[in-house]
Amino acid sequence: MMRLTDAQVAAFRRDGFLRVDALTDDAEVEELLGIYDELFDRDRGFAAGDRIELNADVARAPLPQIVNPERYAPRLVQGQAYRNAAAIARQLLGSECVPTGNHAILKPARIGGATPWHQDEAYWDPRYAHRALSIWLALQPVTLENGCMRFVPGSHRGPILPHELLSADSHGLRLSEPPPDASETICELPAAGATLHDGRTLHSAGPNFSEQPRRALVFGFGLAPVLLDTPHPYPWQRPEWFH
Ligand code: NI
Repeated sequence: MMRLTDAQVAAFRRDGFLRVDALTDDAEVEELLGIYDELFDRDRGFAAGDRIELNADVARAPLPQIVNPERYAPRLVQGQAYRNAAAIARQLLGSECVPTGNHAILKPARIGGATPWHQDEAYWDPRYAHRALSIWLALQPVTLENGCMRFVPGSHRGPILPHELLSADSHGLRLSEPPPDASETICELPAAGATLHDGRTLHSAGPNFSEQPRRALVFGFGLAPVLLDTPHPYPWQRPEWFH
């Protein structure tokens, strides 16, 4: 089972994100890739809300996402990649951490849209304090050209910043004021590489200008949320999300 070094744990605590070269081997990535493409190519009778479009401009910059992809393809969470992700999460959050949900995020070749700057926690239930992280697995090399992840180091120690909906009919959020370019770290990865980020770390990913789709599998883990005396005021959230 994979185990982070003390230096990697310290870097994650300091920066709010971490890059790892390999979460699994090439053979499993090859298998996951086939399952993943089939998932997006076929109508699996997705439950309401499980096949969504993050971007407002679907025609020119699509950003399709499958929420809970393991419901339709259990193999996605039955191999070494997921076991390693769970082991890393337990190491960083403690043995009580549990799965909080997975996502498959596709950037189609040439036109896949950008993922704007956001903090994942801005999407989450504002009545609770959260302690959670995501493990983002690359199923092919990711580069600046095809939409690799970018992070603002240390941003997980700050507050949740103001967000807004990308558009009235979008599921996506973005920071109301993007951070200055100079503050970001760009995380290119080989296939099977991964990034980890805290639920509060500011992150984004560029568009896909390459000739191949950019496919990422995201595994979520967290501790049980703690009820707050006063909920966070998140005016960008829609009432139907949680209430
Ligand atoms: Ni995110």
